[in-house]
Amino acid sequence: MLWLPPALPDQRTAIRRAGPRDAAAMASVHVMSWQATYRGQIGDAYLDGLTVPAFDRHWRHIFAARGWAFVATVDDRVVGVASGGKCRRRNLAEGEVYVLYLDPVYKGLGLGRALFDACHYELARRGHADCLVWVLGTNADARGFYERLGGDLVAEGEIVLGGERLREVGYRWPA
Ligand SMILES: CC(C)(COP(=O)(O)OP(=O)(O)OC[C@H]1O[C@@H](n2cnc3c(N)ncnc32)[C@H](O)[C@@H]1OP(=O)(O)O)[C@@H](O)C(=O)NCCC(=O)NCCS
Repeated sequence: MLWLPPALPDQRTAIRRAGPRDAAAMASVHVMSWQATYRGQIGDAYLDGLTVPAFDRHWRHIFAARGWAFVATVDDRVVGVASGGKCRRRNLAEGEVYVLYLDPVYKGLGLGRALFDACHYELARRGHADCLVWVLGTNADARGFYERLGGDLVAEGEIVLGGERLREVGYRWPA
């Protein structure tokens, strides 16, 4: 199997498929990770306005629309979230990893790679020939991670968040 999670001393780690019952825990990790990661990269007002109930609704909507996601767990507690699907820019790739966020406490332990591999595998299984990820240009840590995982820088774009125009870059992997 491609995406065995790393072993942490004295803790049981797992990567598994997520469902509606995980939505609240996923929302909590998602908001925490956004606020920790993007402080200084995205405006404070926008980050401080993110709420767990809104992200909970977002995840429930994804599952209701037959979307898929994976979670990383440590001792059965959700500490990471990832999801993907059809690429929003079909001229760049067929599949896309939309979301990949960890509780900051569990960064650097191999869980990000395991979640990414799970998404990459799922995209290939669903017939998507390749895979794209968008990342903020200023998110140097994530860019280093994606480059370490062998992604090729193939695109640049802009995203508007909280009224700010931010540069984003796209990395691509073959299937
Ligand atoms: C980005 C993120 C998902 C990576 O997950 P992680 O668990 O911290 O990374 P891993 O431990 O799985 O690292 C996998 C490999 O990448 C390497 N790596 C990680 N960050 C790196 C960096 N900044 N520069 C270079 N290499 C890096 C690791 O050393 C490891 O290499 P190895 O397997 O050869 O030893 C995680 O740190 C995170 O959630 N960051 C905040 C949210 C975020 O920015 N998400 C991406 C949004 S697009």
